[in-house]
Amino acid sequence: MQPRVSSFEDVKDSMQARPASQPRASPRLFLKIFLPLVALGIGFSVFGMYVTRLQIGTPGAIFQSCIEEPVGLERWIRPPSDLMHSMSDEELLWRASWVPQIKRFPFKRTPKVAFMFLTRGPLPLSPLWERFFKGHEGRYSIYLHTHPSYKANFTSNSVFHRRQIPSEVSEWGQMSMCDAERRLLANALLDLSNERFILLSESCIPLSNFNITYQYLIRSRHSFVGVLDDPGPYGRGRYNANMIPEVSIDQWRKGSQWFEVNRKLAISIVKDTTYYPKFKKFCRPHCYVDEHYFPTMLTIESPHLLANRSITWVDWSRGGAHPATFGKFDITEAFLKRILGGQNCSYNNQASSLCFLFGRKFAPSSLEPLLQLAPTLLGFG
Ligand SMILES: *[C@@H]1O[C@H](CO)[C@@H](O)[C@H](O)[C@H]1NC(C)=O
Ligand SMILES: *[C@@H]1O[C@H](CO)[C@@H](O)[C@H](O)[C@H]1NC(C)=O
Ligand SMILES: *[C@@H]1O[C@H](CO)[C@@H](O)[C@H](O)[C@H]1NC(C)=O
Ligand SMILES: *[C@@H]1O[C@H](CO)[C@@H](O)[C@H](O)[C@H]1NC(C)=O
Repeated sequence: MQPRVSSFEDVKDSMQARPASQPRASPRLFLKIFLPLVALGIGFSVFGMYVTRLQIGTPGAIFQSCIEEPVGLERWIRPPSDLMHSMSDEELLWRASWVPQIKRFPFKRTPKVAFMFLTRGPLPLSPLWERFFKGHEGRYSIYLHTHPSYKANFTSNSVFHRRQIPSEVSEWGQMSMCDAERRLLANALLDLSNERFILLSESCIPLSNFNITYQYLIRSRHSFVGVLDDPGPYGRGRYNANMIPEVSIDQWRKGSQWFEVNRKLAISIVKDTTYYPKFKKFCRPHCYVDEHYFPTMLTIESPHLLANRSITWVDWSRGGAHPATFGKFDITEAFLKRILGGQNCSYNNQASSLCFLFGRKFAPSSLEPLLQLAPTLLGFG
């Protein structure tokens, strides 16, 4: 007996081996194998003519067909080659919520950290980030959400080149801000390798080198979401009793917008349809939804996975509604040493002196002194 044709590869082999096997073919075999092949061939030619006619006037389609689609597992685990897509938010969130039910990966997966930049437009501190990422390809991915009218213009040797995602207008304190954050998470979830997801702004800087940052995040048992139960007017004072039964006042939380979450929490954020409508309807200014939605929702769903502290340093000591912004003349050795040292926090249930991996808010003018001090104080560049 000839081996049974059982897969595409086998079909290819048997076709190559045809001259040798032909003499032995019986009429029954001919009917069983050759006729279906002829039928298939005719089918393909008709389909081919149809497709060719469709392609007249759409050169893009012809170009597309030249890119080879992998037929193995690669097809399902390869991240999107182009971050631009035409999915609506509804379609994107649905796609991003897919989760494999077998937890063990049947391939070597190097977990990556997704750096999600939520900006208005340009990234003035990008030269500092370029140095931070240099040489660590394969362990990070970058996503850029800007004002939709802004077209990022990074050269092909930049880590930010073609990392912009389809974006929409987002306003501070409004649900459109949470929508942008969910959009960033959803786009980043499309890459199966992304395991940790950090939200950053154009005024953020890295405070450690890449290896320390990577290990700190990948090895952490908790996600770094600032979570606070503030009894005052800016905390529980913003709660609206219409949120019952999804959210009760003792579940109401406040926290910094600049979160860091693992893949599990990222998925629970993109798939949420329970809390989202309540926050959209009942947390409007002066309830600033981007300070409450994720901290509250995640505390209800997965309190044990939260570190309840932010990984992004910020200085509120000057008072007022906005934290301090640092410019050229603030950036000194003493200043950076003050940010980097003298801290005490809990990491994987142990005391740690490394509490912040990122800092904000840094003005564009801080770039030059930061580039100068980074090699000695931040450990890169
Ligand atoms: C895009 O980059 C090129 C080359 O770096 C520069 O000449 C041009 O002004 C940039 N355009 C915008 C809109 O930033
Ligand atoms: C960072 O980690 C990578 C992979 O573990 C290693 O190859 C590299 O030498 C490390 N770099 C530094 C500066 O420690
Ligand atoms: C964070 O707070 C929740 C309660 O809101 C608690 O269950 C959890 O253990 C806390 N996380 C840490 C690391 O202490
Ligand atoms: C940090 O906190 C731990 C536990 O509360 C304490 O033992 C340690 O002395 C503190 N370290 C500093 C530098 O404050």
